[in-house]
Amino acid sequence: MNLFDLTGKNAIIVGGAGGLGKSMAKAFAQAGARVILASRKESNLKRACEQLHADTGMAFSYYVMDAGDEEQTSAVAEQANRDFGHIDILVNSQGVNEKYPALEFPMETFDFIMHDDVASILITSKHFGAYMKERGYGKIVNVSSVRGKIATKGPGNAAYCAAKGAVDMLTKQLASELGPWGITVNAFSPNIMKTPMTTQIFEMRAREAGTTVEEYLAIQSAGLPMRRMSDPEDCVGTAVFLASPASDFLTGNILYPDGGLTAIG
Ligand SMILES: NC(=O)c1ccc[n+]([C@@H]2O[C@H](COP(=O)([O-])OP(=O)(O)OC[C@H]3O[C@@H](n4cnc5c(N)ncnc54)[C@H](OP(=O)(O)O)[C@@H]3O)[C@@H](O)[C@H]2O)c1
Repeated sequence: MNLFDLTGKNAIIVGGAGGLGKSMAKAFAQAGARVILASRKESNLKRACEQLHADTGMAFSYYVMDAGDEEQTSAVAEQANRDFGHIDILVNSQGVNEKYPALEFPMETFDFIMHDDVASILITSKHFGAYMKERGYGKIVNVSSVRGKIATKGPGNAAYCAAKGAVDMLTKQLASELGPWGITVNAFSPNIMKTPMTTQIFEMRAREAGTTVEEYLAIQSAGLPMRRMSDPEDCVGTAVFLASPASDFLTGNILYPDGGLTAIG
């Protein structure tokens, strides 16, 4: 038995057209899974499926869905289980971030981030989890962040840190409640990576420091154990592990593919 084989498994990756989502989609497909993407913007989903097909030669499909909308998510869970027979793996890679100093943080933005980053995970877990419970098998993999464990030195991340801390505890509580149905729930927490979510942040910080983005990243990573920033590819092994039979007795855990940041953080 190949412990990391996903052959015969159907995986839905929410946020699958994003920087990390696409890398996971490719790795899951290469491990044997049939991969379905889901997010709000159809044009991005279409483009991601085409790019993934060109890269791997495999077929990818998608559903347009706002994971923060319970009605839409419930309908997609029903449709996906009808279309594919069963969904074995749910990856929650959706998320947003907006930065403001804590004392100026607009409450509607705070509420939106908490809803998009945290409540959406409960919504997808409820609706895909109900079908997993019926089959007595499922793997839920949540994408958290090192910011769920250590705050940033400068201002900006009040909502994001609160949201990711909440993702960690939601993961543990879901693991507790869904374990008896054969469903594992785990999370992994990357350090900052270059994806569409962070491109503007890196460009802004580099401008402020009077450097190129590459120079800025080299300075930032100089004190890290692995001496470099992360790429989405640094996280896909952890994601495949958490989706595979290799992790069948692991639940309620948060793993840190962060190049050692939280070891010294
Ligand atoms: N990049 C980093 O440095 C970093 C570090 C640590 C953790 N993370 C976490 O990793 C995950 C993926 O981030 P990323 O860097 O890949 O960002 P990204 O490229 O912006 O991708 C995020 C994806 O989430 C989707 N999304 C957002 N809200 C959604 C909703 N309500 N329903 C469905 N889809 C939704 C977006 O698509 P639509 O807009 O089309 O819906 C997008 O495809 C996030 O949870 C993020 O917090 C990222």
